[in-house]
Amino acid sequence: MWIPELDPGRPVYRAIAEAIAQDVARGRLATGDKLPPQRDLARALSLNLSSVTKAYKLAFELGLVNGETGRGTYVRAGDAARIPWPSGENQVSIDFASNFPMPLDPSEDVVQLCQDMARYDVGERLFEYVARGAANDDISPAALWLEGLGVPARHDGILLTSGAINGVFACLLALAKAGESVLCEELTSPGLISCARMMGLKLIGVPMDRDGMKIDAFERIATETGARVAVLNPTLHNPTLTDLSPERRERLAAFALRSGIMIVEDEVYAPLLGVPPKPLAALAPDAVCYVTSFSKAVLPGLRIGYISAPPLIAERLRNAIRVSTWMPSPMLASLASRWVKDGTATRLIAKRRAAGRERIDLARRVLRRHALASRDDGLHVWLSLPQPWRGDEFATYARERGLTVMPSQDLAATTAGGIQALRLSLGAEPSLERLKQGLGRIDRILLGRD
Ligand SMILES: Cc1ncc(COP(=O)(O)O)c(C=O)c1O
Repeated sequence: MWIPELDPGRPVYRAIAEAIAQDVARGRLATGDKLPPQRDLARALSLNLSSVTKAYKLAFELGLVNGETGRGTYVRAGDAARIPWPSGENQVSIDFASNFPMPLDPSEDVVQLCQDMARYDVGERLFEYVARGAANDDISPAALWLEGLGVPARHDGILLTSGAINGVFACLLALAKAGESVLCEELTSPGLISCARMMGLKLIGVPMDRDGMKIDAFERIATETGARVAVLNPTLHNPTLTDLSPERRERLAAFALRSGIMIVEDEVYAPLLGVPPKPLAALAPDAVCYVTSFSKAVLPGLRIGYISAPPLIAERLRNAIRVSTWMPSPMLASLASRWVKDGTATRLIAKRRAAGRERIDLARRVLRRHALASRDDGLHVWLSLPQPWRGDEFATYARERGLTVMPSQDLAATTAGGIQALRLSLGAEPSLERLKQGLGRIDRILLGRD
């Protein structure tokens, strides 16, 4: 029977959950192993049954085990596909975990957007396969959009994707091989974490401060590991909301050109800013694949994004996009092009920003007594937790009170490095009233009143 060695300095239920993780890392437990029945483990460790129940529950929430009542508890760690994303099944809970764009009132926009589909006659595009993954007609609007973000787009380096996650995935598929190290910020998006796990890539988190990723550390780690690829989110960083400072951008661009490391610049949030900072792609066009999409600022369901890449590697990326999705929907690509040209995309961004400001201001007001980072145009706020809270423990505690939040542990490339914080996304909950209630509940938990 598996008997864990418990760290005496930790609450016992936590120590058991951590022992599961450690024993998987050490090879004492393997995916699919059955853990002892709770009663047996409690007896073996001379504990209350409730402590073991709590430990198994935490292990389940951390994705370390599968638990099905009556069927036993099985180790799940090492399951590369674990995606710490909300299931969306729990309609009752107030969702602060999904980083969705700020809501628009569909009644105002759906009719016009659907009429555009007929007006622009994009239905024809349903009948085609596009040999090169993107129709020529869609390249100039893409270049126009990219230039608006400060990217000096070269037409022969532009590719269409099915959103930014597809863009990042295609870049990794084209540029990295299983087993390789890939650098990223120490806290990063769950999408990148899952993508790297599934691809067998070793993500290495680079420390950050208020000016974004530390370049000295990046240079050192890149040199030590020999990493050939980094995936970064330099603007409105998910989750810390920092922008990589202009000086650091210059240094990073120079290092990339010198060392040959390819930077995947994931700027899915840049369209939210009126004037985004100068992208790395403008500073080192031959060392950067710039990735963006319409998801966070315009329409997530459009599922269209762009890559601006060095033309020399465009064909490799095109193959990766073919492998992952063959081509983004030509009909939706055509709509995106129209909306770029007729100003609809920009108009929708302005509406979302106005809706967003209301929500950000609300969060600032309700959580004013706490350590909150926020940006006028962000989709979330970043709440540093006071001692002795841990992010994952807060998430468990909040879930029992009808709130879903994203703890720093689920956003950590390697480890959260002691950072105890929550990403509170403000766009997913449709009702402003419920959002306010949820924020109030978080405030009360932090004040020890709930
Ligand atoms: C940094 C980052 N990149 C990409 C994505 C996914 O974007 P898309 O919906 O366009 O695939 C997200 C979504 O949360 C993100 O935070």
